[in-house]
Amino acid sequence: MSAAEAARPPNTRADWTIDQGWDAYSQAEHRTWITLYERQAALLPGRACEPFLRGLDALDLHRAGIPEFARINEELARLTGWRVVAVPGLVPDDVFFDHLANRRFPAGQFIRAPDQLDYLQEPDIFHDVFGHVPMLTDPVFADYMQAYGEGGRRALGLGRLQNLARLYWYTVEFGLMQTPAGLRIYGAGIVSSHAESIFALQDPSPNRLGFDLQRVMRTPYRIDDFQQVYFVIPSLQALLDATLQDFGRLYAQLAALPDLPITQIEPTDQVLTRGTQAYAAGPTRTA
Ligand code: PHE
Ligand code: FE
Repeated sequence: MSAAEAARPPNTRADWTIDQGWDAYSQAEHRTWITLYERQAALLPGRACEPFLRGLDALDLHRAGIPEFARINEELARLTGWRVVAVPGLVPDDVFFDHLANRRFPAGQFIRAPDQLDYLQEPDIFHDVFGHVPMLTDPVFADYMQAYGEGGRRALGLGRLQNLARLYWYTVEFGLMQTPAGLRIYGAGIVSSHAESIFALQDPSPNRLGFDLQRVMRTPYRIDDFQQVYFVIPSLQALLDATLQDFGRLYAQLAALPDLPITQIEPTDQVLTRGTQAYAAGPTRTA
């Protein structure tokens, strides 16, 4: 989500934004978007949560290839006041939080190479726009992301960024939601990945635990493969409600508590799936 201490590349503005440069995308790059889009759009009904699917429709991200931010932004601004801005890649934490706190979502401008459809190290425009932006059309999630940006600045000041980053990871990137129709995905890291969209919901390997704020903030995460634990929220409103409290007290408690091993199940956990962890124990693969 952010680059710790990188220098601002030349040709970026003071807030690290650049022009999207939509006219400069090649036909091959547009085709990469279409390939990825069609694969996920076919997979996600019945797997992604309704707000995501609705957002995908509302923004009409299909069309003829990589979407133009100026067009998306008209609809997004109308729905929730959010906007997408282009950045060259990961941006420093304070810059990232400042964008979110002002309802700007920084999105990578580049698209992955055709031989990297399934794995990439740095978020590209498909992850950022297909994965993240549909949820920003939901008013509750839109408020959550803004509050997260504000909370990020405070966490930086208090030296608790590691705890807050785990909240982002296990909600915004890899969150699951319980709905009357069944378990659904809302995390951008899952919906933008073909394999993890299946794994996160169906594989017997990972633990699936009820969301608990302090618990999540004590749980490390892995960035190199499928998650070993997913946290399940009852609703977006419940997530927002849980995070509207002042985190000052929570951070003070966390300072005195050890991290939990990633696969550990606590007596207080609400266990939806006790995972076998068979996938994680197998040969290393990259998600
Ligand atoms: N309420 C948090 C704080 O006091 C901010 C926050 C809100 C963080 C929503 C994440 C999500 O710092
Ligand atoms: Fe992301």
